[in-house]
Amino acid sequence: MEQEVNAVTQAQTTLGSGTILDGTETARAIREELKGEIEGFLSRGLRHPGLAVILIGTNPASQVYVKNKVLACKKTGIESHLHQLDENIETNQVLKLIEELNQKDDIDGILVQLPLPATLSTDTILEAVRPDKDVDGLHTQNVGRLLSGKKGLRPCTPRGIMELLARYEIPLEGKAAVVIGRSNLVGKPISIMLLEKHATVKICHSRTKDLDRQARDADILVVAAGRKEIVKGSWIKPGAVVIDVGIHKEESDDGKGRLCGDVLFSEAREVASYITPVPGGVGPMTVAMLLSNTVESYKSRLPQFF
Ligand code: GUN
Repeated sequence: MEQEVNAVTQAQTTLGSGTILDGTETARAIREELKGEIEGFLSRGLRHPGLAVILIGTNPASQVYVKNKVLACKKTGIESHLHQLDENIETNQVLKLIEELNQKDDIDGILVQLPLPATLSTDTILEAVRPDKDVDGLHTQNVGRLLSGKKGLRPCTPRGIMELLARYEIPLEGKAAVVIGRSNLVGKPISIMLLEKHATVKICHSRTKDLDRQARDADILVVAAGRKEIVKGSWIKPGAVVIDVGIHKEESDDGKGRLCGDVLFSEAREVASYITPVPGGVGPMTVAMLLSNTVESYKSRLPQFF
């Protein structure tokens, strides 16, 4: 699978004029760094970092994401503890499990895979996670910390985007950034993080007028609209940096279903200076940042050693 992704990425690198922001390779480098760090902990006689993952119901995309997260933990030296719960479980029962995990010393991170079944209260469940174990950065205490520029756990996808931009040394100061999407998971936090790096940020959404014109203003365009290939080549300012957060499965006759994003890649790569592919762009970076957040949480919970 990874070889396939690499082949796709390499082909795209040579075809388009824009440079590919290679999330697969960058995430691999981050995993290696974290693995080395964790080996250092073990050589000092410390335990492995531990991550609890809660998956509720049978959403097929969530099952794939969780499988990837568990596999990435294994590759890195993080012990994952997967809790698969029936879709008919009640909020109170989930809260009871979270409380148990909150108390466990060997659990540094707790991740509740979203979306939850509609019968459950997402807000109540996310608020139940101890803020210092909230490796998804979705507890209001961590959201508040992000907003006020304080240290704290930050959501994985926006952190992954910022890390990718930093590792490719893409300057942000004074740049016009346009974010399409206003979700708590991506749109709002990435806007704050870009602002923190001194970009001038505009947040667009489904009710924004003249979305194409707004997008064309962007030096940095982040698309988290959740709509397949909505951003065309003509929406992109020549030389812009394009970050595609979307992931959709294309229907195909062979039933395999090619993956694509919110950006029409074949057009956009001709106009952009840098662009993330789908797959192999933002997705692997999200997982890498989950690992990084878990290690960060581990270190902050063992202050006598760090
Ligand atoms: N579902 C889609 N993306 C995410 C994510 O970053 N975290 C969680 N918990 N669920 C998701």
